[in-house]
Amino acid sequence: SASESCSCSSSHFIHRSYSTSGSDPERKVAILGAAGGIGQPLSVLIKLNPLVSSLSLYDIAGTPGVAADVSHINTRAEVAGYAGEEQLGKALEGADVVIIPAGVPRKPGMTRDDLFNINAGIVKSLCTAIAKYCPNALVNMISNPVNSTVPIAAEVFKKAGTYDERKLFGVTTLDVVRAKTFYAGKGKVPVDGFNVPVVGGHAGITILPLFSQATPTADSLSDDDIKALTKRTQEGGTEVVEAKAGKGSATLSMAYAGAVFADACLKGLNGVPDIVECTFVQSNVTELPFFASKVRLGKNGVEEVLGLGPLSDFEKQGLESLIPELKASIEKGVKFAQAN
Ligand code: NAI
Repeated sequence: SASESCSCSSSHFIHRSYSTSGSDPERKVAILGAAGGIGQPLSVLIKLNPLVSSLSLYDIAGTPGVAADVSHINTRAEVAGYAGEEQLGKALEGADVVIIPAGVPRKPGMTRDDLFNINAGIVKSLCTAIAKYCPNALVNMISNPVNSTVPIAAEVFKKAGTYDERKLFGVTTLDVVRAKTFYAGKGKVPVDGFNVPVVGGHAGITILPLFSQATPTADSLSDDDIKALTKRTQEGGTEVVEAKAGKGSATLSMAYAGAVFADACLKGLNGVPDIVECTFVQSNVTELPFFASKVRLGKNGVEEVLGLGPLSDFEKQGLESLIPELKASIEKGVKFAQAN
């Protein structure tokens, strides 16, 4: 069936593609930061996606090697590597989807906001180039802090006159991936086909899984279990940062999550109906200008930002307490972009 919703269908993106006419349209995906910890496995996963006809790998260095390597995989996408700023334009030209995992990752003891000073500048310069070379592309922002880098991107695009709120996404799919894995494991429900929305933002308490809307629900879970699962989802990134002990943050699970989200964007562009993913977008769902919630994807990117649905008291509290932190992170991004 072509009409499964949420990421239940997209977790099988490697094995199945949807086609309206027997042949999928040409689609170019560019990955900026492709030689990095996320970039490399993400390049492989995107190369495996049959919806992609052209894969453009950009980084400040190292991409010719990654591209040569990935290009030997016998799938549809033609691979090209670009290194250094003078090749960024070529890397971006004609892109339908641009995925950005460029920037520094966390080390133990760091919050995502500690990355702001370095990553804000990187995101700003990459988005300036996107506005120039592929202003219509869907932008999938992975670089942290997502709560601030998405507002930075929006400001850059506004300044360039290219901003389309339907085409800018903060990738929060890893939070959904984690919430699914943790809940299904603890509640002993099959993880395949399990679904749960995660809303808010992408850092600490701003990550709010709505386990009351899980399908199927695990009746065995107590309120304390739900609290613990919420905390584990919020701190899933830190779990990995600590286990890697100075060697970075989530890369492999993030590459998977990034590939799932990009696949959903491509399906939307190709007109596949009922593609719904949680993502951090411009939003009217709360008083904040950006917010992650379920979003229906289509031919122009965001087709519809879906509401939160009914919340438990615990989730209502979580929502209330995340608003000030998320607001501050958004404002920090906007301020940076306006001052630089
Ligand atoms: P990494 O350090 O392994 O790779 C980053 C890559 O970006 C490097 O290859 C570097 O050369 C490249 N880069 C730096 N400046 C660049 C520029 N101006 N243009 C193009 N490329 C540039 O880091 P990793 O582990 O791949 O993480 C990347 C980012 O993703 C970090 O900001 C991290 O916090 C974020 N992240 C986001 C997650 C999410 O759920 N949204 C989850 C995990 C990480």
